[in-house]
Amino acid sequence: MNRRKFIQQTLAAGAALSVANKLKAVSYTDTVNPVIITTWNSGLKSNPVGWQVLADGGRALDACEAGVKIVEADPTDTSVGIGGFPDRDGHVTLDACVMDEFGNCGSVVFIEDILHPVSVARLVMEKTPHVFLAGSGAQQFALENGFKKENLLTDNARNAWLKWKEEKNYIPSEHAPNHDTIGMIALDKKGNLSGACSTSGWAFKVRGRFGDSPVIGAGLFVDNEYGAATATGLGEVMIKICGTHLICEFMRMGQSPQQACQNAVKRVYDKFPNYRKDQICFIALGKDGRHGAYSMTKGFQYTITKEGESVVIDSDYLVK
Ligand code: GLY
Repeated sequence: MNRRKFIQQTLAAGAALSVANKLKAVSYTDTVNPVIITTWNSGLKSNPVGWQVLADGGRALDACEAGVKIVEADPTDTSVGIGGFPDRDGHVTLDACVMDEFGNCGSVVFIEDILHPVSVARLVMEKTPHVFLAGSGAQQFALENGFKKENLLTDNARNAWLKWKEEKNYIPSEHAPNHDTIGMIALDKKGNLSGACSTSGWAFKVRGRFGDSPVIGAGLFVDNEYGAATATGLGEVMIKICGTHLICEFMRMGQSPQQACQNAVKRVYDKFPNYRKDQICFIALGKDGRHGAYSMTKGFQYTITKEGESVVIDSDYLVK
């Protein structure tokens, strides 16, 4: 063997060993301590439900679906599920997605009159060869699978829309007026990561608009080898940088969940100066249970649950 070939083979073996070591470091055979992290303080309602699933040894995917359903069913939350503010024509349209530890994913966009889009997204993942179903097709699929049509426009949301129409003349705002999307990511006792995300999106949006929340890699991404991330805020931006996929790739490159969230927000700051005043928020969870959170501007909160205790934390942010 000549010297050049020997060095090449040695380098290749070294690289393979280093990858193997990294994989070993994140591959669990014993029970690990579960964690759930959720955007905003609605996690105080949703996380305990997800936590019970994890405490019983259940899958992170089941925990996230169960938790997100709590917020979807809460009529007082004006940006998720029933009670969500409608589009500018007065229709509540919902978006949701799920992603599991195997990299499977499912999504519904622009679905109407169905209370639990997160569960429809899961069925898209489990029962079809597709990832996305949209609009009337998504609704048809939901009805075929036992979901019932419900009116999701509450009096509160209708009144807010009527007031908006009067004041704004049917012209959508330039910046998203509310953004309390629920994104939930969890690590289960087997050391597996999954996530779910659900929203009614940008209040009084142009009919047909959907944002990042149902878009895999924008509103949610799970890389079961390294970490998971989800987003809330101005969805158009998360899509433009494939935000949650970017964060997972940063973690794959060795960054902590916190560094990865900060670098994703910094990417927006550097590339899109127009978005420096918008709320752009990420949370991330590493395979080792460490978490991170970061936003563009002040005001983002998230809820973390460990050992059965849920705590709401003010996120650090870039533009001070
Ligand atoms: N982040 C939710 C949305 O923009 O629709």
